Amino acid sequence: MARRAFFCGNWKLNGSIAESLALATDVRNGVASVRDVDVAVAPSFTALHAVAKRLEDGPVMVAAQDCFWEEKGAFTGEVAPSQLADAGCKLVILGHSERRQLFGELDAAVNLKTRAALRAGLTPIICIGETLTERDAGETLGRIQAQLDGALADMTDAELEGIVIAYEPVWAIGTGRNATPAQAQEVHHFIRTRLATRAPALAPKLRILYGGSMKPDNVRALMAEEDVDGGLVGGASLSAESFIRLVKEGSAS
Ligand code: PGA
Repeated sequence: MARRAFFCGNWKLNGSIAESLALATDVRNGVASVRDVDVAVAPSFTALHAVAKRLEDGPVMVAAQDCFWEEKGAFTGEVAPSQLADAGCKLVILGHSERRQLFGELDAAVNLKTRAALRAGLTPIICIGETLTERDAGETLGRIQAQLDGALADMTDAELEGIVIAYEPVWAIGTGRNATPAQAQEVHHFIRTRLATRAPALAPKLRILYGGSMKPDNVRALMAEEDVDGGLVGGASLSAESFIRLVKEGSAS
């Protein structure tokens, strides 16, 4: 089953509006000629609207890094999915391990956010992944299953059709130590098999991204694996040169 490759740069807490605009513009220009790939960038909330305006009508989409599940009301500091869509976002990263570990985000919240994002017409990129302690204890697949089932609880097939999953082993994020292609494939295959128990016809079509120290020089080997469909890229997306090279390498495999 041919799934279109997809690479999303996760800029995390980095960049002024001017810096984000410059990086987004360079990325847009650099990937303009690359075929058969979807590309997105995820700036900070403050830069979303400006970056989306700059990239409108171009091939590069804009993602937010989080959202709330309510549409409006007394929720100081939160941002609704419809507000993100209004700002020009097409996607939203949800359940990133930094949100889980530093801000106590639980699977139930990821589920609520996912469904709210879909209602607003956004594509959720749902992040799951084990810690090093869990991997060393042989709990990787159990942890992945629990996070996946929790995030997707009670969702209909129509809802599932709109999602993207990102497998991001916590020990590989920002460490320079990526999962080996075989380690990634084992978990990606497990995720797809688990999705197939929920929605057999849909599972072969859903994209499963890898995240965790993906770089221009390891993307090809990761993308060569059957169930690796793209990447959620942190550090290597903060320079246009390395992100463009990564997208080119990754989509050529
Ligand atoms: P990294 O981050 O590429 O810097 O490891 C990936 C992520 O956190 O999404």
